[in-house]
Amino acid sequence: MHKDIAEILVSEAEIEDICVKLGEELTKAYEGKTPLLVGLLNGCIPFMAQLIKHIKIPMEMQFMAVSSYHGGIASTGDVKIKYDLDHSVAGRDVLIVEDIVDTGSTLKVITELLKYRGAKSVKVVTLLDKPEGRKVTFIPDYIGKTIPKKFVVGYGLDYQERYRNLPYVGVLKPEVYEK
Ligand code: PRP
Repeated sequence: MHKDIAEILVSEAEIEDICVKLGEELTKAYEGKTPLLVGLLNGCIPFMAQLIKHIKIPMEMQFMAVSSYHGGIASTGDVKIKYDLDHSVAGRDVLIVEDIVDTGSTLKVITELLKYRGAKSVKVVTLLDKPEGRKVTFIPDYIGKTIPKKFVVGYGLDYQERYRNLPYVGVLKPEVYEK
């Protein structure tokens, strides 16, 4: 285990189980459709790559970069679009792929934006849900694992852009961000 990690919250094996289960669920839910998966960079990368291997229907993917943490340990609620989609979502069944839902601000804003742009449906799949962190009402449609209000990193999740490459999700030791 990495020296800055206090405990592993979601192991590599558990992540794979989650991706298999969610993949089966999404395959059934979107049967007969060609969903457009919209990944929110950068955090979505490992999860999206692993999840799509278990989706057994035709699908497409695009990416957006949105930021709300601005390098700290708590979301600012100030959602900025840093990089936008390059094709229209009008008439599409959009599935937003996210690593974590915390305050809910990012997903609420992006869900409303994509509906406003004419998507036929907009749903959200997230690896992690931290409901105790909510500042706005938002319920993801598909959840990998519900976690307590702890600052987690790894498997796409960062602290000041570090730790995204850990193969598991772990709790960051407070001394790392308190110094
Ligand atoms: C994180 C995470 C979500 C968002 C969730 O992204 O990937 O997009 O914050 O937080 P919220 O529910 O409080 O809005 P971040 O802004 O850190 O960008 P990143 O994906 O590049 O790490």
